[in-house]
Amino acid sequence: MKEKVVLITGAKGGLGSFVTPRFLAAGATVVGASRSISKDDFPEPNFVPLPVDFTKAAAVRDAVGSVVSRFGRLDVLVHVLGGFAGGKTVAETDDATWEQMGDLNLTAAFYVLRAAIPQLRKSGKGRMIAIGSLTAVEPHAGLGAYVTFKAALTTLVRTVALENRDAGVTANVVLPGTMDTPANRKSMPDADFSKWVQPGEVADLVLWLADDRANSCRRLQCMKESSGYSLMSSISMSRSA
Ligand SMILES: NC(=O)c1ccc[n+]([C@@H]2O[C@H](COP(=O)([O-])OP(=O)(O)OC[C@H]3O[C@@H](n4cnc5c(N)ncnc54)[C@H](OP(=O)(O)O)[C@@H]3O)[C@@H](O)[C@H]2O)c1
Repeated sequence: MKEKVVLITGAKGGLGSFVTPRFLAAGATVVGASRSISKDDFPEPNFVPLPVDFTKAAAVRDAVGSVVSRFGRLDVLVHVLGGFAGGKTVAETDDATWEQMGDLNLTAAFYVLRAAIPQLRKSGKGRMIAIGSLTAVEPHAGLGAYVTFKAALTTLVRTVALENRDAGVTANVVLPGTMDTPANRKSMPDADFSKWVQPGEVADLVLWLADDRANSCRRLQCMKESSGYSLMSSISMSRSA
């Protein structure tokens, strides 16, 4: 990853706090973004904080532009940012929840992809990895807004993969099941944490997908079941019971 410039959205959240250190340790120049982020969050010399609200199109365009102005390139985009809401049927879902789920899980991805793709194409080995959700593979009662926009995210990224393979760009979605994050432990204290996906494993996979050698992983889906992996079009991670 040395000499690579990597932009990570949601860089200091439950998963981002594993992904960002992986890329820092691999020697990349890491631009870590969220609404509130500072150098203190990752005090390594190769970390650059980028405060930006990814639901604002102009701010996202300017943020990606600032990365390219400063470093002259963008090689990897890791789009970790997303948001969760559940517990309501479709009939009970209010406008604000629907809009928030759309903004955080789909529109933000569109904004950052639109801004980043021309730079990833110039990289020659551009890499884009988004974090979706295993729940998006099948409909889930009570998660209508979340799974709808996460499913659309997968389609968006697969489309980007098709549109940019000519420039050596790969675009993949990782679909984790429930992850073992501090926020999940707090909100589900009685759950069996051992059944949850370790965010460190997701971070390892993301780092691997960003590698130059992951050149053929354009439309890969590893459905991780108890029996192992099967290849489809993006990557799902779950632990068997
Ligand atoms: N946690 C799970 O079990 C789980 C399971 C499957 C999939 N996922 C997906 O995995 C990804 C990461 O989940 P997570 O648990 O790490 O989430 P998280 O802890 O809530 O972190 C989200 C991050 O996004 C940032 N953020 C929120 N709104 C933003 C905005 N408008 N603009 C810029 N940054 C914003 C937050 O920082 P600021 O507050 O500073 O902006 C935070 O760093 C998400 O896409 C999620 O849907 C999570």
